Amino acid sequence: MKNPFTIGIAKEEKFCDRKEEIRNLKNFIQNGQNVVIYSPRRFGKTSLVKMVLKELEKKDKNFIGIYADLFPVSSYQDFIEIFSKAIIQSIGKEVDKSFFQKIKNLFKNIVPSFTVKPDGSFSISISINPSTSLETLLSDLFTGLEKYVKKNDLKACIVLDEFQEITTLKESKKIEGLLRNFIQEQEDISYIFVGSRRKLLVDMFTDKKRPFYKSSFLYPLKKIEKSEFVKCIISSFKRTEKVCSKSTAEEIYDLVDGYPYYVQKLSSIIWDLTDKKVTEKIVENALKTLIKMESIDFESIWINLNKSEKIVLKMITIYPEISPFSKEFLEKSKLSIGGIQKAISSLIKKDLIEKEDNLYLLTDPVMKHWIRGIF
Ligand SMILES: Nc1ncnc2c1ncn2[C@@H]1O[C@H](COP(=O)(O)OP(=O)(O)OP(=O)(O)O)[C@@H](O)[C@H]1O
Ligand SMILES: [Mg+2]
Repeated sequence: MKNPFTIGIAKEEKFCDRKEEIRNLKNFIQNGQNVVIYSPRRFGKTSLVKMVLKELEKKDKNFIGIYADLFPVSSYQDFIEIFSKAIIQSIGKEVDKSFFQKIKNLFKNIVPSFTVKPDGSFSISISINPSTSLETLLSDLFTGLEKYVKKNDLKACIVLDEFQEITTLKESKKIEGLLRNFIQEQEDISYIFVGSRRKLLVDMFTDKKRPFYKSSFLYPLKKIEKSEFVKCIISSFKRTEKVCSKSTAEEIYDLVDGYPYYVQKLSSIIWDLTDKKVTEKIVENALKTLIKMESIDFESIWINLNKSEKIVLKMITIYPEISPFSKEFLEKSKLSIGGIQKAISSLIKKDLIEKEDNLYLLTDPVMKHWIRGIF
């Protein structure tokens, strides 16, 4: 029997709940509204948007979903390449005559070429003349896309995953401005901007001086609800002929604060250790294994923090109920108010902590176990 849990994109029966989010996003798309989806890392953004596009494509023959992952961009040429590849890939799921007809003359300066693999799938490479300007390429891309959508009477949704990465490019200011102009003019195309580096992403849409200011609906993605995730955990074990009781499934969820990636990972380790029925001892051992597995990442984050950041992070973990600006925190940490403030804003920027009500919490629940374990 195969392990029913995954640390990759959740699909099909591995995809749990998100009914409300799916409904909301479908509405936005159908109304041609642009959305920004953000959350900490590994919360399920990519799984969710892919599921939404898939459902819309299944239901409506005139809908085209285009998904581009901008995580690897390091130049504007990369951006053009990834975006145009994503468009071409969505237009044709397989290479045949009609496909070539469809993409013939789609772009002027962006030239695709194909390699067909033995299994019928294909890979695309894009060539662009390196001396073509950014303006010309972007215009080529957006005009081509718009023409295609209009000519075929389609509705389209473009997902730009890890969209904040464009801010790391040399030409980012120019790209932001140009993109905003093109996007604003497209009526039949809605955009979903996705990202986990929340400050970078949200700043793009909330800073008055930036081109994307107030151009899109902000949609923070929450965790998956406990009762729904617990049902999924139980049924995944059942489907693979193992037993996990409701209380144990709840414990799995609670141990990692319902963080989707860790719920999957911890469940996966537990599944591997379980012969027939999940026991307390197995959960305990699995959690230890999980913390050990993640500790390499945590260590490298930790060594890159300065002394006050380390103190504040440790204090927030051990005394989550004490406000960092209280007298008690000041005394215990032996830092100045200014020092604490600086450390807090830096830890937020690094997505390591978040503010909830008037307190601060660690974003990563397993990091919390890890810090508690070393102090
Ligand atoms: N609806 C879901 N049901 C069950 N598990 C999910 C769901 N969505 C995501 N997950 C799990 O959460 C983890 C992260 O998923 P995903 O890659 O979609 O998140 P993300 O927010 O895009 O992550 P990143 O910030 O790394 O891009 C994976 O282990 C995935 O299996
Ligand atoms: Mg993702």
